[in-house]
Amino acid sequence: MSEPSADPALFDRVVNLTKRRGFVFGSSEIYGGFRSTYDYGPIGVLLLRNVKEAWWRSMVQLRHDVVGLDAAILSPPAVWEASGHLANFTDPLVDCTNCQARHRLDKLEDPNVCPTCESKGTFTEARHFNLMFKTHAGPVEGKGHEVYLRPETAQGIFTNFANVLQTSRKKPPFGIAQIGKSFRNEITPGNFVFRTREFEQMEMEFFVPPAEVDQWYQYWRDQRFQWYLDLGMPEASLRLRDHEADELSHYSSATADVEYLFPWGWDELEGIANRGDYDLTQHANASGEKLDYFDQASGERYTPHVIEPAAGATRTAMAFLMAAYDEETVNDDTRTVLRLDHRLAPYKVAVLPLSKKDTLTPTAHEVFDAVKGRWMADYDETQSIGKRYARQDEIGTPFCITVDFDTLEDRAVTVRERDSREQDRVSLDQLEGYLAERLGS
Ligand code: GAP
Repeated sequence: MSEPSADPALFDRVVNLTKRRGFVFGSSEIYGGFRSTYDYGPIGVLLLRNVKEAWWRSMVQLRHDVVGLDAAILSPPAVWEASGHLANFTDPLVDCTNCQARHRLDKLEDPNVCPTCESKGTFTEARHFNLMFKTHAGPVEGKGHEVYLRPETAQGIFTNFANVLQTSRKKPPFGIAQIGKSFRNEITPGNFVFRTREFEQMEMEFFVPPAEVDQWYQYWRDQRFQWYLDLGMPEASLRLRDHEADELSHYSSATADVEYLFPWGWDELEGIANRGDYDLTQHANASGEKLDYFDQASGERYTPHVIEPAAGATRTAMAFLMAAYDEETVNDDTRTVLRLDHRLAPYKVAVLPLSKKDTLTPTAHEVFDAVKGRWMADYDETQSIGKRYARQDEIGTPFCITVDFDTLEDRAVTVRERDSREQDRVSLDQLEGYLAERLGS
C-alpha cells in the first residue's frame, strides 16, 4: 500500500467551510480580531460537544473503573511548583535581530536561519519562556496574590486524588477523567484551532499498582487509538508514534502520540504517557499530605503509578472535520459533504418544509416537535430545497426530512440520507423508529 500524503489544499477548504457555516469565528472580530483565539458558533459548539460526549461516554460512562471530575481553572503557585511546571514548562525562544520575528528554536528547520526574513546568524541566544498565564486573585497584585491559569487539566486530578479515592470507593487500577479549558501562552500559535492559547483538553489519569504499569500503558495506547477509528477516522490517516528519549516531557518515562495526517503533515492529536509516580510523589512531598494507597488484601502501601491519555477536544474536533470533508461531482456540480459519524454530526436531522406557506407550517412544527426531544434537530424553511439540502450536507446532517403538500394528505414525509442522497417516503407514525434504526439511538 502506498504511503498516504498530506493534502495542503484541504486546509483552506475546511477553514472556509467552518466560517461560512458557523462552526468557528475569529474571536473579537468586530474589534479586528484577537490573534489565534476562536469562538465556536452554533454548529461548531454542537460538534465540539459531541466530540467531548463521545470521549466521556467511552472513558467514563461505559466503564466501571473511571470516574469524572471538574476542577478549578485557577490555582496557586504551589501546585505548579510541585508539578514542575514553573521550572520546566518552557519553550526555547529566539528573536531575529534583523526582522524582530520571534520563533521557537526547537521548531525551526535550520536553527541558524530566520524563516521570516531568511537572514542567517541573526538570532539572539535562546531564552526559556514559561508558557503559563499568570494573573492575580483579588484586588491586590504582587507576591502572595499570584495565581495561574492551568496549562493542563491533569494537575487538578492529582491534587484531588485523595478526595476521589475516599469518596468514590474505587481502588487501583482506576481512573479520574476530566474535560475542560487549558491555557498556554504559545509562542507560535497557528494552523487555525490546532494550536491556540486557550483550548479544551480531555484527560484521564489512570492510577495503577506499580507492577502493572507497563501492561496498562499498552492497554491505553491501543484503546485510545481505536477510539478515533471507531468514530470514523480513516486508518491510513492515523498512526501511533513512540516518543524519542529527547522528546519526553519532564514527568514521563514513555509516551506515544496518536497522530493524524493534517494538511501540513503528521501532527499530534493525543499523547498517552507513563507518568510513573512523579506527580503524586511531588504533590505529597510539597503538601505534606499522604497521596498513596493502602491495599488491605496484601497489606502493602504504595504510591500508584499513572498512565495518562491526554487529548485535545478542540484539536480533535478539527481533525474529525478534516477527515469527514468530501467533495463529489453530482450533475456537473460540486457537492460538498461532511461525512461525519452520526454521533459527531452537529444536527442529526433537519426538518425542511417544502415551502414557507402557512398550510405546511403546523405539520412541519409537529414533525420538529416529534424528533427534537430525542435528536438535535434543525428547522429551516428559507431558500430552495436544493440549497437547503446543500447546507445540511455541508454541516454533516445525516437525515433531512421534507414536509410537502402530499404530507397533508398521506401523513408521510420524504427522508433523504446525506451520503447516498437516497430518499424514502416514511409515514409519520413510523418516523421515530425509522430514524432510531439508522442513527443508532
Ligand atoms: N497532561 C499532559 C498534557 O497536557 P500535552 O501533550 O501537552 O499533554 C495534550 O497536551 C493534548 O492537548 C495535545 O495532544 C493536544 O491535543 C492538546 N493541546 C496541547 N496544547 C494545545 C494548544 N496550544 N492548542 C490546542 N490543543 C492543544
